Amino acid sequence: MIAIRDLEVRFGGRRVASVAELDVARGEIVGLVGESGSGKSMTALAILGLAQIAGARVTGSVQLEGMELVGLSERRLRAVRGRRIAMIMQSPRASLNPTLRLRTTFERTLRLHGVPKREIAERAAAALREVLLDPPLLNRYPHEVSGGQAQRFVIALVLALRADVVIADEPTSALDVTVQAEVVDLLRRLRDDHGAAQLFISHDLAVIGQLADRIVVMRGGEVVESGPAHAVLAAPSVPYTQELVAAVPRIGVPA
Ligand SMILES: Nc1ncnc2c1ncn2[C@@H]1O[C@H](COP(=O)(O)OP(=O)(O)OP(=O)(O)O)[C@@H](O)[C@H]1O
Ligand SMILES: [Mg+2]
Repeated sequence: MIAIRDLEVRFGGRRVASVAELDVARGEIVGLVGESGSGKSMTALAILGLAQIAGARVTGSVQLEGMELVGLSERRLRAVRGRRIAMIMQSPRASLNPTLRLRTTFERTLRLHGVPKREIAERAAAALREVLLDPPLLNRYPHEVSGGQAQRFVIALVLALRADVVIADEPTSALDVTVQAEVVDLLRRLRDDHGAAQLFISHDLAVIGQLADRIVVMRGGEVVESGPAHAVLAAPSVPYTQELVAAVPRIGVPA
C-alpha cells in the first residue's frame, strides 16, 4: 500500500528524517520505534504531505498503491488524507473540534470524504458497535468524554471511512495502561478484520512488540535497524536496539 524510497525531511540545512526504504503492505502493521526527536513523526507527516506545510523540505518518493504523494498538490492530498490514509494522534481530544458534538464531527468528516448521507447513520452505528462505544456518546463534546473514549471515537471514524492506510502516532501514550491495551486490541482488529495497512509509531518497544509484524528502528533521523518483529526483538543487531529490547522486561532476556 505504502512504498517509501529515499525519503528525506529537512528543516533549513538540518536533516531530521531519512528513510531509504520502508514498505507497508495491506494487512500489515509496521512499528516505527525510536527515542524522542528521532524523526518518527516527521516521517509520518511527510507521508501525509503535512511536513511541507510545517515548513520542511521533503525529497524522495512516497507511493500509495503506485500513486506518488511527494509533490502532489494540496488539493489532491486533501482527498487522500482521511479517506485513504487516516491519522490517529497522541491526544485524540486535541485532534477533534472542541466546539462540535462528536456526532457532528462524525457526519461532517464522512460527508467531506464523499460518503452518501443515507449511509452515514448506518456506518456510525456499525463503527461504534465495533469500538464498543454507546451511541448516545455521540451527543457529547470532546471535553465530555475520557481520553480512551475519544481515542475509540477516532478509531470508529477510521473504520467508518474505510481507510486503506492508518498512521497511528503514539496513539496510546496519553492513555492509562488498561485503556492502552484496549486501543492496541482495536488497532489489531483494524488489521485482522479490515486489512488496513498500518504504520504504528511509538517510543515504547513493549507496545510495538504486541502489535507489529515488522519493526523499524530510528535514531537521530536515521533508520538504524529493520526486520520482522520477532527477529528484531529476539536478536537485535545494533547496540541501540539491544538497549531498547533490554529495557522491556517482558521481551528482554531475563537477567
Ligand atoms: N517545525 C520544525 N522546525 C524545525 N525542526 C523541527 C520542526 N518540527 C520538528 N523538528 C525537529 O525534527 C526532529 C524530529 O522530530 P519528530 O517530531 O519527528 O521526532 P519524534 O521521533 O516524533 O519524537 P517524539 O517521540 O518526541 O514524538 C526533531 O529534532 C525536531 O526538533
Ligand atoms: Mg513524535
